[in-house]
Amino acid sequence: MSTQPIGIFDSGVGGTSIWKEIQALLPQENMIYLADSKHAPYGPKGKQAIIDLSIKNTDYLINQGCKLIVVACNTATTNAIEFLRQNYKTPFIGIEPAIKPAALNSKTHTIGILATKGTLSSELFHKTAHLFASDSKIMEQEGHSIVELIEAGKLHSEAMKALLEEYLRPMIDADIDYLVLGCTHYPYLIPILLKLLPKSIKIIDSGEAVARQTKAVLTQHNLLNPSSKKGKSTFYTNANPEVITALLGTSHDIAYLDF
Ligand code: SIN
Repeated sequence: MSTQPIGIFDSGVGGTSIWKEIQALLPQENMIYLADSKHAPYGPKGKQAIIDLSIKNTDYLINQGCKLIVVACNTATTNAIEFLRQNYKTPFIGIEPAIKPAALNSKTHTIGILATKGTLSSELFHKTAHLFASDSKIMEQEGHSIVELIEAGKLHSEAMKALLEEYLRPMIDADIDYLVLGCTHYPYLIPILLKLLPKSIKIIDSGEAVARQTKAVLTQHNLLNPSSKKGKSTFYTNANPEVITALLGTSHDIAYLDF
């Protein structure tokens, strides 16, 4: 049992989509969210650079007394979680694209995945795809510039709509019936995607599964917060706090931190 906070980090504001799911499942937990927007996007960076940034974020959260760390970034998970698990005693939760449920449920045996270059080129992604989707055709699409637009506060822009139209067209033409969102920034695109995609295509992300896994690991380590009161969440960003405020609303504790 522990009232210590859960630490969550991402290359920017996207991991707040994961924070929302954890908060909904475990409302009593205190949480510290670190948005490393200054270094976003992680997707095009090399493995060692992603590991170095992940160490910096992890060290900050551990110094704040976090009992478990959620790497709320697909790119950091696929490139750095193995290193983190080997070098820290704290339990880590990572985000993997929901390829398994998409492949299991696909009727057309063709699924689309939208993710960063760092995720699509990682060993972990290829292993997962091979393990769970060897009977399916996977249409991979790099979400080039999507994270940059979200981090610049341009989620609902014409530029975003045009990019998504370009990225989705080959998948729609190939008759995908599942679109896997392989980046924690992308759940914020769902309202736009619903307008652009035929109704037959289902959108799937990993948020709920990550929240369930967080609860399971806290339970396993006897680290759940026993309080019956709502927990406190604090958000730190090293860029303009207005972007994260626009996604979460003004009722949250959001502060600039130079890290
Ligand atoms: C990025 O920083 O490029 C995207 C983060 C992610 O992969 O979730």
